[in-house]
Amino acid sequence: MRIEYNKSLKKYNTFGIDVIAAKFISIKSELDLNSLLAENSTKPIFVLSGGSNMLLTKNLDCLVVHIAIKGIEIIEESDDFVIISVNAGEKWHDFVQYCIKNNFGGLENLSLIPGYVGSAPIQNIGAYGVELKDTMVQCETVHISTRKKHVFLNEDCKFGYRNSIFKQEAKGKHIITKVIFKLTKKNHILNTNYGAIENALVDKGIIQPTIKDVSEAVIKIRQSKLPDPERIGNSGSFFKNPVISTRHFTKIQEKYPAIPYYQVDHDHVKVPAGWLIEQSGFKGKRWGDAGVHEKQALVLVNYNNASGTEILDLSKKIQSEIKEKFDIILETEVNII
Ligand code: EPU
Repeated sequence: MRIEYNKSLKKYNTFGIDVIAAKFISIKSELDLNSLLAENSTKPIFVLSGGSNMLLTKNLDCLVVHIAIKGIEIIEESDDFVIISVNAGEKWHDFVQYCIKNNFGGLENLSLIPGYVGSAPIQNIGAYGVELKDTMVQCETVHISTRKKHVFLNEDCKFGYRNSIFKQEAKGKHIITKVIFKLTKKNHILNTNYGAIENALVDKGIIQPTIKDVSEAVIKIRQSKLPDPERIGNSGSFFKNPVISTRHFTKIQEKYPAIPYYQVDHDHVKVPAGWLIEQSGFKGKRWGDAGVHEKQALVLVNYNNASGTEILDLSKKIQSEIKEKFDIILETEVNII
């Protein structure tokens, strides 16, 4: 284990924000993680996974622990299912591609999501009608202060829309070391209801899609709308889609009949934050190197050298405009550090 000092984190967060970690260590095994926690039991640490869902606004004056524990293991298998264990430091999309290659179904709609496997349960990653919670059996953690291993079964994680126990009462207390999934080996349950997926399959003349076809369709859709963090810094959706009362929604709809929406239940409607932001005139706008993506207004971008504070200021400007125009409070999806 080697500690590095005054290390730039620009390459370690998908927003590409250049902040400095006073101390930085990359952890490659659970054993190393345990000894590190034992040595640093009284000092603050900051756990860094793929850095794909955070906005860094300041230098980190503590030890940054980068979880790079790799490995994929099949732990049980039948003709129909596979139970597969993945260590936290595997890249999410590489794991999804491994599953597609081996014909393990269930994660294809979650193709091309940036980040590592270990942070996927924290915000219950989701896309195109599928969420991590649909296939996750359990995840394993190390408790930071007791160094004890914990198993969180799916139902223990209190999964919700971009939410879990790890963003609530367990926040900052655990390091996720592995995630275990149950995936199908045959009779895959495909989720192609999302309009854009259906269209992409029809365009290619595919009537009976395989999981590979669905994955390829998702990749094509994401590439057409979402900026590649390797080229333009971003953290995917910056805000959550807000849920408002049906009454409030009806008022907005009278003024904007074309507003897209999803009815959550009788009393609640979810509206796309991207649409609200576009209506407020922010789409494609740029202030210095901080901007709003030209193809998807829900994504804030760092064109090169924006600071975390510049992106944060832009997000606040958007929040106050949406509050003023629609009386809706936009909550951030990314963690502001
Ligand atoms: N829309 C606009 N203008 C925009 C963006 C969107 O009018 O600039 C409208 C679209 O026309 C559509 C609706 O808003 O009617 C929804 O747009 P989209 O299908 O692109 O999805 P989203 O609600 O903006 C969510 C997730 C994405 C996920 C997609 C697909 C959240 C916060 N975001 O975005 O997740 O990929 O659905 O399932 O729930 C992420 O979390 O980082 C992420 C990218």
